[in-house]
Amino acid sequence: MIKLFEPYISKEESNATIKVIQSKFWASGSGINNVKKFENAFLKYTQSKSCVSVNSGTAALNLALSMYDIKGKEVILPSLTFVATANACILNKAKPIFADIEDTTFGLDPKSILNKITDNTKAVMPMDYGGMACKIFEIKKITKDKNLTLIEDAAESLGASINGHKVGSLADSSIFSFCGNKVLTTGEGGAVVTNSREIYEKIKLIRSHGRFDKINYFSNASESQYVQMGYNWRMSSITAALGISQLQKLDKIIQMRKENAKYISLRLSKFSEIQVPNTSSEVDHIFQMYTIRLRNKKIRDELHEFLTKKRIFSKTYFNPIHLTEFYQEKFGTTKGMLPVTEKLSQEVLTLPIYPNMTLEEKEYLIQSISEFFESLDN
Ligand SMILES: Cc1ncc(COP(=O)(O)O)c(C=O)c1O
Repeated sequence: MIKLFEPYISKEESNATIKVIQSKFWASGSGINNVKKFENAFLKYTQSKSCVSVNSGTAALNLALSMYDIKGKEVILPSLTFVATANACILNKAKPIFADIEDTTFGLDPKSILNKITDNTKAVMPMDYGGMACKIFEIKKITKDKNLTLIEDAAESLGASINGHKVGSLADSSIFSFCGNKVLTTGEGGAVVTNSREIYEKIKLIRSHGRFDKINYFSNASESQYVQMGYNWRMSSITAALGISQLQKLDKIIQMRKENAKYISLRLSKFSEIQVPNTSSEVDHIFQMYTIRLRNKKIRDELHEFLTKKRIFSKTYFNPIHLTEFYQEKFGTTKGMLPVTEKLSQEVLTLPIYPNMTLEEKEYLIQSISEFFESLDN
């Protein structure tokens, strides 16, 4: 069986977590304070000024959106993304407005954003698909000209860069996910990065019950002050220890992913029916996902079934959010609204990729795809 994803680990992850377990300071911020250490390392890596770690990418999305007064307003976002991106708008009582994407980066198309802006638009929230940076410079220019907030859902693209700028470093706030299939994983986890000190302080409060502590709550015997509403969206010290270990080897992880992708692409490009991932000079692809395109939905679905029978895990990322029953009923979104998104969503198939993918696994994948096309010819 070939898995779709697998974390890259070494002795450091086990040693670091055992150290926290043995210290008996497992909660956030206590003892050796891994959470703060992870946040400091993460903000350096992402070229940001501030970082707040949380317990999921979804919590990060909700926190980031809650900072920008979007209630009753419209937020422009892609539909070819994970459903949490759009759900975070609803949870913050804003209306998600889906714009179309580009055929090349799979990210929001600046022209489509311009078409969707109304007097009620408050924010634009691009998503960097599967390890590719979206056209953030063009999008930032639009949000600046139109006085809109820019929130980047960089959940899938930690480490990718565009013109030397790390993904997530250019928006008002950006979010990342560390769930199991991400380039850096802590099992579950997430982070918000921002260059605004004020947003950073506010997010920290909401992350932990609106509680203001001069000294960490768990190492502090005095009364706490609860200054506003909040949640428990904290990352634990054990999780942060994993994050620190993973971050130290992130460049290596990305390099291994890139090498595997290069190997697979070289072999798959001989099939005229397959379009391999875009790695043109304008796209720095870090391959959180390895997504190919097929001629149409029929072939895509047949290949998916064939690979499943061969015990190779493949998956469609994503079925467009605007075509889910819930969004159609709630917001009146319909088929035909987003031609590029809808076409792409019928053609994409994500194949296995992870740093330690063996030569045998890569060959088995390529051989199986070859068998599939041979079976079509006969
Ligand atoms: C684009 C995108 N946004 C948000 C999320 C949510 O992150 P999490 O699963 O950590 O809550 C994901 C997660 O998989 C994602 O792919």
